[in-house]
Amino acid sequence: MTSKDKVLTLLEQHKGSFISGEVIAQQLDITRAAVWRSIQDLRSSGHVIEASTKVGYKLQEESDVLSVQGITAALASKDKVNIVYHETIDSTNKEAKRLALEGAPHATVVVAGCQTEGRGRNGKIFYSPQASGLYLSMLMRPNMGTSMALRITAAAAVAVCRAIEDVSEKQAGIKWVNDIYCNNKKVCGILTEGISGFESGNIESVIVGIGINHQLPEQGFPPELKHIAGALFEGAVLPQATRNRLAAAVIKHLLWVVDNLDSPTIMAEYQQRSVVIGKKITVLQGRENYNATAVAIASDGALIVRLEDGKEQQLRSGEISLRPASGQSW
Ligand code: BTN
Repeated sequence: MTSKDKVLTLLEQHKGSFISGEVIAQQLDITRAAVWRSIQDLRSSGHVIEASTKVGYKLQEESDVLSVQGITAALASKDKVNIVYHETIDSTNKEAKRLALEGAPHATVVVAGCQTEGRGRNGKIFYSPQASGLYLSMLMRPNMGTSMALRITAAAAVAVCRAIEDVSEKQAGIKWVNDIYCNNKKVCGILTEGISGFESGNIESVIVGIGINHQLPEQGFPPELKHIAGALFEGAVLPQATRNRLAAAVIKHLLWVVDNLDSPTIMAEYQQRSVVIGKKITVLQGRENYNATAVAIASDGALIVRLEDGKEQQLRSGEISLRPASGQSW
């Protein structure tokens, strides 16, 4: 680890309070001049650090540069993960897959500040601009059969809602399958991908990719997203909700749900958070589209809908997407 990274670790651990240059130098066994150079380097990377000749250095609460150190400082020590950070990457899901093939362990988390090839469901692109989003993929090697692994998608949606509500004052709901909505706008998309064993055919690892619109992108959302996409913060970010703290909250809840996939409370919460249940919807399936009413979520995550002729049908994710029927909103 470089001196700059070590200084950042200490500043993140003391975020919001002063720590003297002397203490930093002593703890890291470096000179005061090296501390000062590290502070300058960190400032030029965007960290907001106050310096006072009497009391030392303080990483301001609102300082929000994504980093392994920032996420780690916000995690409880029991939440053991292996975090890999990239300022820019093609796709955190792709990177997690590459790491999986190299043998990376369970709970490897790839975080990026920007994606050049962010992937969404059904082959769509996930808009992933710099500075305003959190793009994170967790590689999991759950010891379980395929049916349990399928529940991870629903469980991840619950985990993200809990994380958003932990750090912000927003209420988060789930649009089946796994889009997260706040105030009627999509603020997060989740793409779960499995890697199956060539010989066994079993799911060997699962990658849960989460993209959260933390703030409005500087240049706004592209025209095709404007009417559906929103951001968690459309003004000032709460100090407890920096991207590092949000990432830590997401990781904490993901680790919990994955360890408790057989808990009935997760699917119950998934249904309770659903923004579609009870609503009239339009189901888009390939070239077909039809109207129905969303009735309930089945225990395996399928959406039960009532068709206009009164018959019920179960929808499984595949290539299906939903729209609110005219006059309805999420
Ligand atoms: C969707 O809305 O269709 C799902 C979007 C999932 C986006 C996330 S961002 C982090 C991870 N990396 C990707 O390339 N995609 C997922």
